Amino acid sequence: MDTKVLDIKDGLDLAVELLKNGELVAFPTETVYGLGADCTNTEAVNKIFEAKGRPQDNPLIVHIADIEDVKKVAREIPDEFYILAKKFLPGPLTIILKKSDMVSPAVTCGLDTVGIRMPNNEIAREIIRKSGVFMAAPSANSSKHISPTTAKHVYDDLNGKIPLIIDGGSCEVGIESTIIDLSQEPTVLRPGAITREMLEEVLGTVGEFKGKIKVAKAPGMKYKHYAPKVPAIMCDTVEEVILKYKEAVKNDLRPVIIGKNHPEYFCLNLLNIGSNGSEYARNVYNALHIAEENYGYIIVEKLEDEGVSHSVMNRLLKATAEQPKNE
Ligand code: TXA
Ligand code: MG
Repeated sequence: MDTKVLDIKDGLDLAVELLKNGELVAFPTETVYGLGADCTNTEAVNKIFEAKGRPQDNPLIVHIADIEDVKKVAREIPDEFYILAKKFLPGPLTIILKKSDMVSPAVTCGLDTVGIRMPNNEIAREIIRKSGVFMAAPSANSSKHISPTTAKHVYDDLNGKIPLIIDGGSCEVGIESTIIDLSQEPTVLRPGAITREMLEEVLGTVGEFKGKIKVAKAPGMKYKHYAPKVPAIMCDTVEEVILKYKEAVKNDLRPVIIGKNHPEYFCLNLLNIGSNGSEYARNVYNALHIAEENYGYIIVEKLEDEGVSHSVMNRLLKATAEQPKNE
């Protein structure tokens, strides 16, 4: 399959036609690029799983353009949804609600709940409005690989497997949306740029899911994600980073550091990801992409475990986690 890359001006009509005909379209959002299909069309949704090599028990989230759309894709919508929507939508927040019948069970892998996301990206919303298609869309990368924050990342990963990528430049947030589950006591299932503290300001107490998933509440959470193609480790201190770096040089591993701009790293290969949580988020996936393309060994410096930096650490811990033997 020939994969076209077009900007929205040249690509909108084709995107609309493809979506209406049950085909896939990769598109920009403020978080990461998504790979969209009509959430009511089971055959179309199955193509997402096929193109990504995604496990069949990892549900997708549904993208809407306007708040009123929620009534079509979800049911029994609690007041908390509207409280969150008023403050944070459109924006990098996915809200788990009870699903409506309109949404194909293939989207939710049989769960009675569905993740709803209204992206703060005009291109994404224009595609949804013009096509009238609510897009089921995961991040537009092959399963378990690093999420894409540019059209080039998508192309390098899925070239030949999808018909169209709409190029909307770099994603300004850079990590996937925060997921909050409102089908139970409000609980953060995946941290993101909207932190638990920010959610608590409008909702009161919000839990955060930690630990390992055994039973399928959010099946996707049990899989390793965000993995670069070369070995990656995390070090707790600058001293440890330098020690591991020197060892790696001795062993001809071609190391690179992903971290902050410490003077101690002078003359070492460094991908500087900035100096605060929002900067880390914007830069982290691009740094991982550059690192795996150009180096043989990635050494990640541990970042602060607070605010948005906590959410970036969530991704970096997964990127540097050892692959379980049975996967
Ligand atoms: O920012 C984002 O959320 C991006 C852009 C494209 O919108 N999308 C994204 O999708 O990150 P994906 O599929 O890579 O991550 C969605 C996560 C998965 O871990 C999945 O397991 C979880 O949401 N999820 C989906 N439906 C769920 C449900 N009903 N209950 C619990 N978790 C769910
Ligand atoms: Mg993903």
